[in-house]
Amino acid sequence: MRVDVRPTKKLRGDKPMNLTEALGPIIDALCADSVDLSRLRVVCDWIQYRNNFRDVVDLRQILPPTGTRSTGDLEVAVDLRRCGEEALAAQVADMLREFNDPASSGRHYLEDWTATSASRIWDFNALYWRELGIWEESTGQQYEQALPGGQSDARNAKAARDLIGELFQVWDSLAERNSLPDELYVVELGVGNGIQAKTWLDEFVAMDRALGRDYYRRLHYLMCDYSEHVLALARANVADHIQHVSSFALDATAPTTALGFLRYKVFLAYISNVYDNLPTDEVARIGDHTYYTQARAYLADQDARRIAAGLDVDPTAVTVLADKLLRLGPNLLTEVHPAQFPDVESAAGFWRQVWGALRLEERYVPLRGLDLYQVAPGVSGEMLRPFLEQDGDIRMHVSNGALASFADTLPILHPYGRLQCHDLFVTETQQYGNGFRGPGKYDGSIVNWVNGPLLQHLGSRKGFDVRFAPFAHRPGTNILTLTAQVRD
Ligand SMILES: C[S@@+](CC[C@H](N)C(=O)[O-])C[C@H]1O[C@@H](n2cnc3c(N)ncnc32)[C@H](O)[C@@H]1O
Repeated sequence: MRVDVRPTKKLRGDKPMNLTEALGPIIDALCADSVDLSRLRVVCDWIQYRNNFRDVVDLRQILPPTGTRSTGDLEVAVDLRRCGEEALAAQVADMLREFNDPASSGRHYLEDWTATSASRIWDFNALYWRELGIWEESTGQQYEQALPGGQSDARNAKAARDLIGELFQVWDSLAERNSLPDELYVVELGVGNGIQAKTWLDEFVAMDRALGRDYYRRLHYLMCDYSEHVLALARANVADHIQHVSSFALDATAPTTALGFLRYKVFLAYISNVYDNLPTDEVARIGDHTYYTQARAYLADQDARRIAAGLDVDPTAVTVLADKLLRLGPNLLTEVHPAQFPDVESAAGFWRQVWGALRLEERYVPLRGLDLYQVAPGVSGEMLRPFLEQDGDIRMHVSNGALASFADTLPILHPYGRLQCHDLFVTETQQYGNGFRGPGKYDGSIVNWVNGPLLQHLGSRKGFDVRFAPFAHRPGTNILTLTAQVRD
């Protein structure tokens, strides 16, 4: 048996955790079972997100690579943060029994096994942004309160001024050479409530006036988001600048579908707290083999029963209603099922209950060849090879959505333009071995840290220099600033 403890920092310091106390009952329960211990891995994380998709202990199958005689191995995944909270030995025994007799688990699945990036959890994520107003009304909380620091760093006026100052320098030098285009394009992907756009535009006007450049007259600020609701909020917030702002409903993973006309024209593509919210798979190297993760979202029987009792329906109806919620949204759900949902508030309550209880079962599926795995449109899984073949076992995010977005934003950048992004990034692949990087739940949305080395690698292949720096304007934050520019 191999035991992998990732959050090593938690084992020392002022309040070190008692690892043996936490793991003892789990190991005892595993030893008491007839499971083949030589085929078992125990992987311990510290899941910092209070709301997440995991149980304290989960079991994952590692499917055997084709052509091998193996029956496959098992991974026991432990959340050390919650180990003290549950009667773990009994839970592990139940988990092993259910593994041998899946029908006994009573889990209510929302889908069949699928790549994690295609799981229904992403439909919940999209529903959240599409129907943000209903969710916020129901919780009484704005989405920004769930972000690191309790509000978006995109609001930071000093950060906006620094960025605009650098942009002015580029424009000044192009103007000196009579090379500055008449139209000055700035694109923002994933605008949220538009407060960032407003902050940025207000600062732009103030600096433009102070420096007497007259750049504002030539500025086109394009706000992009896939949620019409969010775009409407943002438009209202930038009302003072409406002559210079247009809004586009588009998927951030494929910006050129709508913005292709801007090829080589954009001086700034700005993205904050969006890459960590785009769909992703995870890949792993375990022993000599590579795998990707598949997932299936489910509700535990006790959760389905609790939710069903409140609606006076059979527990098996809960996943059917959840499916309708995802397809129709809370408003229409009230029309289709008025007995269960007499008003939007009750439909929103159901949505929150299901989301809160939603769990992900995971398994590792062998990758038959990295070239057969697609990271993003036109990007082969071969690019993962140097990262997966570093040293030892690893499990890391692919950040498929972020890579797709990044690859499809670079073509619209002006040769002197830049892509700037504030987000949660892993900057060294080794960081996957010492911390939990998602998925977590922020309110109704999903957060996964973004695989920075993969972005850097992809950027470099396309002739871009990609750098990370701590977000300079909020000490102690985990947020980093990525800047991508054409390599000199
Ligand atoms: C956490 S908010 C960030 C808002 C803002 N940039 C900020 O920093 O405060 C994420 C935003 O990304 C948008 N978004 C998420 N996935 C998207 C996608 N695939 N395409 C377009 N927009 C997306 C959401 O609608 C939401 O407006």
